[in-house]
Amino acid sequence: MTDDNRTPVTVIGLGAMGRSLAGAFLDSGHPTTVWNRSAGRSEELAGRGATVAATAAEAIAASPIVVICVLDYDVVHEILDPLSGSVAGRTLVNLTNGTPRQARETAGWAADHGADYLDGGIMAVPMMIGRPEALVLYSGSAGAFDVHRSTLGTLGTARYLHADAGQASLYDLALLAAMYGMFGGFYHAAAMLGSEKVPSAEFAPLVVPWLNAMVGTLPVIAEAMDSGAGADDDSNLRMQLVSFANILTASREQGVSTELLEPMRALLDRAVTAHRDGGDVPNLVELLRADPTSAG
Ligand SMILES: NC(=O)c1ccc[n+]([C@@H]2O[C@H](COP(=O)([O-])OP(=O)(O)OC[C@H]3O[C@@H](n4cnc5c(N)ncnc54)[C@H](OP(=O)(O)O)[C@@H]3O)[C@@H](O)[C@H]2O)c1
Repeated sequence: MTDDNRTPVTVIGLGAMGRSLAGAFLDSGHPTTVWNRSAGRSEELAGRGATVAATAAEAIAASPIVVICVLDYDVVHEILDPLSGSVAGRTLVNLTNGTPRQARETAGWAADHGADYLDGGIMAVPMMIGRPEALVLYSGSAGAFDVHRSTLGTLGTARYLHADAGQASLYDLALLAAMYGMFGGFYHAAAMLGSEKVPSAEFAPLVVPWLNAMVGTLPVIAEAMDSGAGADDDSNLRMQLVSFANILTASREQGVSTELLEPMRALLDRAVTAHRDGGDVPNLVELLRADPTSAG
């Protein structure tokens, strides 16, 4: 049997994200029970019809589907471990940010105590929750996802990845890594232009179309990575290393720290050392994956 908007839902953790998740469930008509460690986070939700549980145990008992969204997995276990006897027959949906290993361990804990488990990665900020552009990635129990697809769809676009509970976290962290790389580049660029008093707001309209154009090349690069073929984009890495070094030199001359970009130069150096002309972009990913210092 699949659920609908009469299915009761519990939300544990009422930080910025948990409050938004609970609000989306309320907006779509789900009877919603909430619990948070500290008082003072639930008043607005209670005003919209949420039931405020006095304890986490009471919150878990209230619904077949229990969403937990707290600071980290230590907190998840701090809350759930003492209640291991209460989770059997429920679906735990853990939307807390963490690592694949933590997700797999928590899936094992849930299975040991008779609960279905879905791990999720929220690719959105709280104000986006409840809209289709809020992508939430899930992995873990396929059966639980099928049963609760409609309820989970309340939060945004629900995308199931894999039975391995660690996959949603792996995708989540990889997508965040791509995002932080982009932000880091923008912060550096803003500091460079700021050294000549160019306002960032004046610069931003140039950055956005430039990055959009470069983002458009990613599918081609990705195909080359997968096939092992060259990227065939006439931009070999030896040439790129020269212009990259110019960014670093110019930054220092402008009094701008190069701390965000030095690791990229080190990687380009390694590629040029390993390949006569540096090869092309797929070689960089090979080098990252072969890093002997990264194990564990
Ligand atoms: N906000 C975002 O933009 C965003 C986007 C995507 C994903 N996420 C993820 O969503 C999760 C929650 O983020 P958030 O923005 O809601 O964070 P937040 O506003 O800082 O809230 C943290 C939550 O964790 C609880 N908590 C912390 N330590 C605790 C403890 N020792 N025992 C019990 N509860 C504890 C807090 O309870 P108290 O109120 O009692 O302190 C609060 O409910 C994180 O994993 C985050 O990475 C957030």
